[in-house]
Amino acid sequence: MKILALYGSLRAASINSAVLRTVRYLAPASIEVRLFSGLGDLPLYNPDLESTLPAVAKQLRNEVAAADALLIASPEYAHGVTGTIKNALDWLVAFEGFVDKPVAVLNATPRAQHADTELRETLITMSATLIEAASITLPLPSANIGEAELLAMPEIVSLLSGVLTKVQRAVKWLPDMKPYLSSSLYIDSQHPAIVAQAAKLAEGYSDEEAIAKRCFEFVRDEIKHSWDYRLNPVTCKASDVLSHVTGYCYAKSHLLAALLRANGIPAGLCYQRLTIDGDPPPFCLHGLNAVYLEPYGWYRIDARGNKPGVAADFCPPLEKLAFPIMNSLEQDLPGIHAEPLPAVIKALTEHQTVEQVYHNLPDIDHQNQSV
Ligand SMILES: Cc1cc2nc3c(=O)[nH]c(=O)nc-3n(C[C@H](O)[C@H](O)[C@H](O)COP(=O)(O)O)c2cc1C
Repeated sequence: MKILALYGSLRAASINSAVLRTVRYLAPASIEVRLFSGLGDLPLYNPDLESTLPAVAKQLRNEVAAADALLIASPEYAHGVTGTIKNALDWLVAFEGFVDKPVAVLNATPRAQHADTELRETLITMSATLIEAASITLPLPSANIGEAELLAMPEIVSLLSGVLTKVQRAVKWLPDMKPYLSSSLYIDSQHPAIVAQAAKLAEGYSDEEAIAKRCFEFVRDEIKHSWDYRLNPVTCKASDVLSHVTGYCYAKSHLLAALLRANGIPAGLCYQRLTIDGDPPPFCLHGLNAVYLEPYGWYRIDARGNKPGVAADFCPPLEKLAFPIMNSLEQDLPGIHAEPLPAVIKALTEHQTVEQVYHNLPDIDHQNQSV
């Protein structure tokens, strides 16, 4: 696998270029990390030059096209990104080979938040695939630190080795898993509050199964089921579920999917068709999740919230859901959905109170199985 590393500082003693050289040093034989040293030679971008590309711009584009992923480390200048990295990205805006490219962003110092946020926004606007799990802030001071000092810091070595593993995994999975790693309107995994909560849950853990379990337990235990607790408002978007600390099962599954995706773990939505009060009819949909864990494949989890008679858990490969299928009319609906079903969105966005949602729970048309 090939990673092209771009650094947005031209300083000889740049921390950002030192970080990328450290990543190159730590890379296993299966990963080639190449540092592009020509960003300072790029002329200022001018669309008029598209027809006669300067040699260095051509070289940048060729190397971007040949890379499986990009790794960018760039400092903050006056609460913005540096001209060096912005100019380089401007040369890639009109370049087809950049679209969908997996990109990880390393922020060397915690105080440089403005540039980090801006850089991510620019990359997303340019249709890059941001590898959230590998895009981290390093706990470094903004002073002259070289490669040797970085290699002598166990925490930095561990973080940068983790970045390599996560980039490698993202590149391997992205073609099939992209829909299950993407941020969207309702599973807004790139919302700053989701990114922050996901990072908090992953802090101190490198094992993906442990991180997935922490995300599951957080949503199951800390986010209150709206009907169990009779809590308004009705939430649907993952970030709203997080900020209001409540949601129906469907909404809680949106939050869990978002937290997992923000940690680079593929996650989808599953549905069951269950009776509402034990005796059919009526029926309603019940929302839960499936998470992709490398040793097991897709594994279903249900974070709706435990209560007497409901004891869902995370214990792969054993499935421990909230509701077993009790009769022949109930069913596990097939499929792992990347996005919520339209009937679920309708129920959660067209009703104002938890009581109204309860009396209009979503269901499928049982005859033709449509929603
Ligand atoms: C012109 C200039 C502007 C800077 N503005 C900021 C800033 O707004 N916020 C910040 O955290 N650091 C700022 N810094 C500090 C740099 O981010 C810091 O020195 C960093 O180490 C530079 O990256 P480098 O070592 O890769 O060159 C600025 C430095 C320079 C030279």
